[in-house]
Amino acid sequence: MPKARQIYTVRGVESAPRATGKAAREVGRHLVTDALVRRARDAVSMRVDALRGALAQRGVLPADAPEAGAVVEAFERSYGRRPLRDNAGGTMRNSSTWLFAVAALLRPSTIVECGTFRGHSSWLMAEAAPDARIITFDVMREDGRLRDRRIEYRLGDWSDAGDLEILPQGTLCVFDDHISHRLRLEQAKARGAALALVDDDYDALTLYATGSPPVPTVAMLTDPELAAGTCCEWERPGKQYAYTVTEADLQAGRDLIAWTERMPDLTAVNRYVAQAPMTLVGLR
Ligand SMILES: C[S@@+](CC[C@H](N)C(=O)[O-])C[C@H]1O[C@@H](n2cnc3c(N)ncnc32)[C@H](O)[C@@H]1O
Repeated sequence: MPKARQIYTVRGVESAPRATGKAAREVGRHLVTDALVRRARDAVSMRVDALRGALAQRGVLPADAPEAGAVVEAFERSYGRRPLRDNAGGTMRNSSTWLFAVAALLRPSTIVECGTFRGHSSWLMAEAAPDARIITFDVMREDGRLRDRRIEYRLGDWSDAGDLEILPQGTLCVFDDHISHRLRLEQAKARGAALALVDDDYDALTLYATGSPPVPTVAMLTDPELAAGTCCEWERPGKQYAYTVTEADLQAGRDLIAWTERMPDLTAVNRYVAQAPMTLVGLR
């Protein structure tokens, strides 16, 4: 009987720099065969095209929005030369795809981001929407934060920014700061925004997936089965959390949210780091 052994070939290559932790699950791992690269990109393009169609139906897609295939090619070019190779703790590859796609398709005049972290997401949006004015806020200073001249970096919470009390038409708000989605949407609407992209949009069944979920999330505010008074309790190692849904939450959801588009999960396509749920919200 033949001896069991692997039947593919393996040769050593230089794959520097090596990533650590969560990033090691995607940095330096990729297809090489052209035809397979093409199929994988087509699988992503198909999903970007579905988003493009949904945005057109919502009436928010500009007439000159790029085709899905062009968005994916542009993303790959930008992502390939991203200055922060390892953005663990922030947006990894799959969420980066959607951040890029939304910015490239919507072509917002202005992007206001809450949650700069090391600056990867704002850099990526500057690549996707080169004509947009981009302002990014973070309450923390971060070692090694990018400084890109296309971006205005601000220290603090955006609600203190007096010059943004009335947002320019066509502003996209991007919330990735783990602050309550309800609060962020209320602020965005009060300032005249029509569109907000929220990250970490975990529903009531998956709140344990992140250390500080932005409760009540958009997914919770639009969950028809989540009644006022429901106490959501969840546990992560060493900590038990609880949040009771209020009637005011549900009313805020109805008052604020006209529609939502949830970004498709690309994890099934490429098995990179599991994507945090990201949702585009059309505000009333
Ligand atoms: C998940 S990280 C953001 C990741 C980043 N968007 C990226 O993809 O690279 C969350 C960030 O939100 C910041 N943050 C927390 N509270 C904030 C607030 N009130 N306003 C702005 N940023 C805040 C944290 O300091 C942290 O840097």
